[in-house]
Amino acid sequence: MRDADEHTITRAVVDRFADTPDPRLKEIVTSLVRHLHDFVRDVDLTFEEWQAGIAYLTRTGQTCDAHRQEFILLSDVLGVSMLVDAVNHRMPEGTTETTVLGPFYVAAAPERENGADIAGPLEGTPLLVTGSVAAADGRPLAGATVDVWHADEDGAYDVQQLDALGGLAGRARFRTDARGRFHFWTIAPAWYPIPDDGPVGDLLKATGRHPNRPAHMHFMIAAQGFETLITHVFSADSPWLDSDAVFGVKTSLIADFAKHPPGTAPDGRAMERPYRHLTYDFGLKAAKPGRSRSVRDRDPT
Ligand code: BEZ
Ligand code: FE
Repeated sequence: MRDADEHTITRAVVDRFADTPDPRLKEIVTSLVRHLHDFVRDVDLTFEEWQAGIAYLTRTGQTCDAHRQEFILLSDVLGVSMLVDAVNHRMPEGTTETTVLGPFYVAAAPERENGADIAGPLEGTPLLVTGSVAAADGRPLAGATVDVWHADEDGAYDVQQLDALGGLAGRARFRTDARGRFHFWTIAPAWYPIPDDGPVGDLLKATGRHPNRPAHMHFMIAAQGFETLITHVFSADSPWLDSDAVFGVKTSLIADFAKHPPGTAPDGRAMERPYRHLTYDFGLKAAKPGRSRSVRDRDPT
């Protein structure tokens, strides 16, 4: 093929991939070429803009290290992470909706007994979390693992302040009891900005967007024979519910972190100061037999 012009070059590049042995790879690379070429034609991309784009992606890569994944963050603020989540999780009736994993998940969270207080050195308004895990038909799931993690009252995760805290806090793994229930104490999390001191923050600033996420608690729930659920529960009185920087809010995931005066909490604990109570019941989707495992299907047991 010679003399490719702005219209014929797309066909030429697609044809060059014609012998790709893996049909799925062929489908993906072909569609990618078509959309990239359409994008260049659509905006009449200049050389300077193309170079700026390459430099931006280079900086994004250079910002990644063992603790920071700037490309996933970029995917998050472009809505790609939630779009991939959406096309992979068409959830049936009775199951909980999914949302982004985020960068602050730790695989080896400390296992704690139901009723434990996981706040450690974190200070803030005490929060009782009670909940249950069931199949879509309401059958309680005993022995499910419930990983939780959340920001503190200043909006920081433990892994962002490990030296100051001296270890993990505001995260743990629980197991549901015979009736599929779990409960624990912690402190109420606050809303927070996603890490915005790198290329993703530059993009948000240049486009007049804020970096904030509404207050939420993360859950990863796994049980044999079910798809692992990765989700959050958002606090109904938080700012930013309608403009989450990563597009992760779903109405079904918003719940009351109810305010209570001092008194006896639902688990019998005597509270001398005001506290909050979140209760949420989760529904898991049955795993398809023989389905390949993905990042969403990790079994942390
Ligand atoms: C989080 O909720 O932890 C999070 C999700 C996406 C990007 C940054 C943080
Ligand atoms: Fe978070």
